[in-house]
Amino acid sequence: METEDAIRTRQSIRDFAADGLSRKEIEGLIDLAIAAPSAANRQFWSFCVVTNRGLLDQISEAAKAYMTRCRPLDLPEQLYEKLADPEFHVFYRAPALIIISARKNAPWAAEECALAAENLMLGAVAQGFGSCWIGLCQPFLGTSEGRALIGLGDDEAPLAPIAIGRPASPAAPVPRKPAQIRWLS
Ligand SMILES: Cc1cc2nc3c(=O)[nH]c(=O)nc-3n(C[C@H](O)[C@H](O)[C@H](O)COP(=O)(O)O)c2cc1C
Repeated sequence: METEDAIRTRQSIRDFAADGLSRKEIEGLIDLAIAAPSAANRQFWSFCVVTNRGLLDQISEAAKAYMTRCRPLDLPEQLYEKLADPEFHVFYRAPALIIISARKNAPWAAEECALAAENLMLGAVAQGFGSCWIGLCQPFLGTSEGRALIGLGDDEAPLAPIAIGRPASPAAPVPRKPAQIRWLS
């Protein structure tokens, strides 16, 4: 698949087939992720792959409870209503979650992890997989309880949690606003 096709066809997938990716397929995507640029090539990122169904469900429930109880982000009310819905699964029952983390306070760590995440998501499209960045689980994963569940050290921050799997159905295209460009010619 051409780069432009991958960019144009990538969409956030929220309906996944039950069968997951193999370890080799996930390692292949992570290999693409780490081809991303990083400041001074310091590559502060690390990857945690969760495929344990019970653990994914546990993180989803705990993240929902934490978000509803603490409201750590200024989100539209309808998102908090969704989080309170017992049927809602933050990972849409994806078979895998890849959490890209980096050392806390490392300069440009968030930018670097986001670049790695985009590589991973575009690579996923090119290989017939689907992904969705799950920001809603991020505040919980940063708590001591969340860190303990994914074995994240105190000096690391979870920066890009990506649900990944095989799309069970295509996503509806999400329109973009026209780009705001200031030409200083
Ligand atoms: C930082 C970030 C956090 C996001 N968090 C969530 C999330 O928690 N749940 C979700 O369903 N989608 C989440 N998304 C996906 C966006 O909703 C999606 O990218 C946007 O609506 C555009 O749609 P598209 O990705 O299909 O082009 C997130 C995307 C980003 C970049």
